Amino acid sequence: MVTAAYCSYALGTEKNARRAAKAVVCYTHPQVPTSRACGGQANIKAEREDEAMDIVLKGGTVVTAKDSYRADVGIQGGRVAMMGQDLQGHQILDVSGKYVLPGAVDPHTHLELEFMDTVSCDDFYTGTVAAAFGGTTTIIDYAEQTKGGTLRQAVETWRSRADSKVAIDYGLHISITDAREDVLAEMEEMISAGVSSFKCYLAYPERLRDDELLRVFLRAKDIGGLVNVHCENGWLVDYMTARLLEEGKTEPRWHPRSRPAPFEAEATQRAVTLASIAGAPLHIVHLTCVGALEVARRARDAGQPVLVETCPQYLLLDVDRYDEPGFDGAKYVISPPLREAENLEALWRGITVGDVDSIGTDHCPFNLVGQKDLGRNDFTRIPNGMPGIETRVPLLYHEGVNKGRISLNRFVELVATNPARIFGIYPQKGTIAVGSDADLVVWDPDKKKPLTVENLHMNVDYSPYEGITVSGYPELVLARGRIIVRDNDFLGQRGAGRFLERKQFSQN
Ligand code: URP
Ligand code: ZN
Repeated sequence: MVTAAYCSYALGTEKNARRAAKAVVCYTHPQVPTSRACGGQANIKAEREDEAMDIVLKGGTVVTAKDSYRADVGIQGGRVAMMGQDLQGHQILDVSGKYVLPGAVDPHTHLELEFMDTVSCDDFYTGTVAAAFGGTTTIIDYAEQTKGGTLRQAVETWRSRADSKVAIDYGLHISITDAREDVLAEMEEMISAGVSSFKCYLAYPERLRDDELLRVFLRAKDIGGLVNVHCENGWLVDYMTARLLEEGKTEPRWHPRSRPAPFEAEATQRAVTLASIAGAPLHIVHLTCVGALEVARRARDAGQPVLVETCPQYLLLDVDRYDEPGFDGAKYVISPPLREAENLEALWRGITVGDVDSIGTDHCPFNLVGQKDLGRNDFTRIPNGMPGIETRVPLLYHEGVNKGRISLNRFVELVATNPARIFGIYPQKGTIAVGSDADLVVWDPDKKKPLTVENLHMNVDYSPYEGITVSGYPELVLARGRIIVRDNDFLGQRGAGRFLERKQFSQN
């Protein structure tokens, strides 16, 4: 008989515990066969112990944010239905010697984004296929409110672009660019529609004033929304940019000089202060520098709910990239920009000690030819953004796990579990447990992949990681129980992904 336990402390309530019991094992401590680590309180007979699974991943090592253990994973009806030894199934896939990871969750993408006189060059099909090749099975994209428009229109526009194209499941955040009274009122309706997080820019023409940001926080506090903030002081960026242009400094290398790290640290402090006044949680997106990290750490030490995301580009690439020959520095024109080397080490330290919660991509690709070159004579016209949706997970594994900076479990936490938890889709996504969606990655720790533009599937004409060969790559990727990637082949379907209605942010 297969027995299992539920973990009432992790699930919170008796009702949740009963739901988990039906699903056979605890979501967060799926021990096989039973209660060792989670101190669970009930032994429940598996409902499906005699049934053959649709698919069994056999003989691999299951890795979650908490545990690594040998178990077969049985999939039925698109979900993980059973974990244990010697499971029977209609299709048995031998994955011995491999890790079985939860499909990764990218909480920060910009597909088909109209931005700086052009449109990011991965659409919801090419972008989600590329994501899948790299082990990501869920994305959360940013729908942008237009000035004068409503939040509902932003969601409708994004869904009309995405629903028929996405190859994996997706959710949406909304960027509030016009914080009118009626828009603040509308935030609640968005949460009911499963869009439970909002973004505010403190840079770009779309930026909010401090009083507007405060009002967004106050509203979010009342209705249980989470506010993501792009922290750069846009007023100072405008001033610095004008000065540089006046001095004839127009090449890509001046982009980072127009928005130095103190502009980010200052804006981060402002966001932290306003969130604290409102008593609202704050999620800082794409944090890049030691000054901003220290602001966040101080706030967290004082008990303020402040969450921090960074991205692989800020961990791997530094400001010297802007000095690449010719116009190649334009590849790295992103905001915030790449930083001086000491910031990279500080971010890795932040990851190790737990000051960074998640790794997103800020995937916002533009071709060098035909898009980035709009700014050949003026760096301020180079569309800001770079590709990353496919390379995030392998890069973090290679640079983090292979180089001994983080454990395998912490890696899973950063790329899958924490993004899912923060954005209200856990434990459906972000872990491997009975009842979770069977979004699974069979990870070959020995597979080597040069991250050249030819080897990648993103619809963009360069790779920022040319010259880097990673060890560790997906061999198989499953989305809701279907194999969508096998080595170099995409086996999924356009439009097969679903829109995810996300729960409200919870601090527990
Ligand atoms: O350079 C970037 N990051 N482009 C995308 C828009 C944003 O700021 O997130
Ligand atoms: Zn972004």
